[in-house]
Amino acid sequence: MEDSETDAALLLLELRRGGYDTIFERVATPEAMDVALGNRAWDIVISDYVMPQFGGLAALKLMQESGLDLPFIIVSGKIGEDTAVEAMKAGAHDYILKGTLSRLVPAIQRELREAVIRRERKAADEELQKAHAELRKAHTELEIRVEERTAELARANKELQAEIAERKRAEQLREEYVALISHDLRNPLTSLIGYTQLLNRLLDRKGLAAEAATAESMLTSASRMKSMIEDLVESAHLESGTLEMHREPTDVRQLISDIAVRVGSIEDRARIRVECPDCVPHVAVDPERIERVVVNLVTNALKYSPPDRPVVTRVARSGNEALVSIIDQGRGISAEHLPFLFQRFYRAQTGTTTDGLGLGLYIARMLVEAHAGRIWVESELGKGSAFHITLPLA
Ligand SMILES: Nc1ncnc2c1ncn2[C@@H]1O[C@H](COP(=O)(O)OP(=O)(O)OP(=O)(O)O)[C@@H](O)[C@H]1O
Ligand SMILES: [Mg+2]
Repeated sequence: MEDSETDAALLLLELRRGGYDTIFERVATPEAMDVALGNRAWDIVISDYVMPQFGGLAALKLMQESGLDLPFIIVSGKIGEDTAVEAMKAGAHDYILKGTLSRLVPAIQRELREAVIRRERKAADEELQKAHAELRKAHTELEIRVEERTAELARANKELQAEIAERKRAEQLREEYVALISHDLRNPLTSLIGYTQLLNRLLDRKGLAAEAATAESMLTSASRMKSMIEDLVESAHLESGTLEMHREPTDVRQLISDIAVRVGSIEDRARIRVECPDCVPHVAVDPERIERVVVNLVTNALKYSPPDRPVVTRVARSGNEALVSIIDQGRGISAEHLPFLFQRFYRAQTGTTTDGLGLGLYIARMLVEAHAGRIWVESELGKGSAFHITLPLA
């Protein structure tokens, strides 16, 4: 910015002497400066301080507003100290009196260096800003994801709570059913059995053999029904984990002999043999539960073997356990069914149309295992079956 061509020539001369091969434009009005700034990428602006239509401060402002950060050096004929300070405060980088132009080249060199540093710092700043912005963005994204995940967890938790509540309700319902069956169904059945026994004896005493036999089969059916109810109640207890065991030293041989005179029909009982080769010590069991097990196994043996074949119940000692075996001479079970026999509601198609729930062996297994015992079967088609259980000695 220089209105005097002579002064501008002097400046150029000084610059050439300092080793600069200069490309320059001299302007003297704001409009011209505006155009010139846009013309190319300049290294430096040198400006007079007082010009007729323009001043050094106005030129500085114009350059700053154009967004450029070029070294701005004021070269003036006369400039007071106050003016100089004002110019520096406004952002000028140096001021030089026209009388001391020898200072110009070193000042330019210094300011060019500074400008490079400023540019580098600006670039680094921008980089930092960018990194900050990215970090902020990542942070926001993370927050959103955490919020989403939290909402998801809350939803899942709510569903789980609802499910637990639902299950508890179902559990309660089942317990109510069990209570209903065990009281409202078992009790009348027990008295029905009692009266049928009475009737049976009366008819027998009166010599009405045919009628007594009818009463006898009524009794068998009622007992069978009672047994099925016991199985249902027991399996409900087993599943809900509400089975209460009352273990006591029990004479297992006696227990089996007692069952043998109660189970099934008269004809059935006649088929049962209880064998006890050696004296077996007492076992530590809940007698009612083991009775269920043996009743289920003996009932099966009677049910799934011909009426003219015996069912053997054998008790023996095996180490520190008692081994109870129920052996029949029925048609046996084919190998494909064996792995599933002790599962709930599993019934092998053994050719008989005998009724049943498929619960007997499942309950037997659960009860034996609850005593830390084992249950297994040996069976071959056409040769009969042997079911074994072990029980801990007392
Ligand atoms: N001694 C046996 N001989 C041949 N098959 C047997 C014998 N014991 C059990 N099974 C087979 O195993 C199946 C399962 O027996 P389980 O006692 O569990 O049920 P179920 O006798 O059919 O019915 P319930 O619940 O009334 O006892 C039977 O359906 C039968 O096919
Ligand atoms: Mg059965």
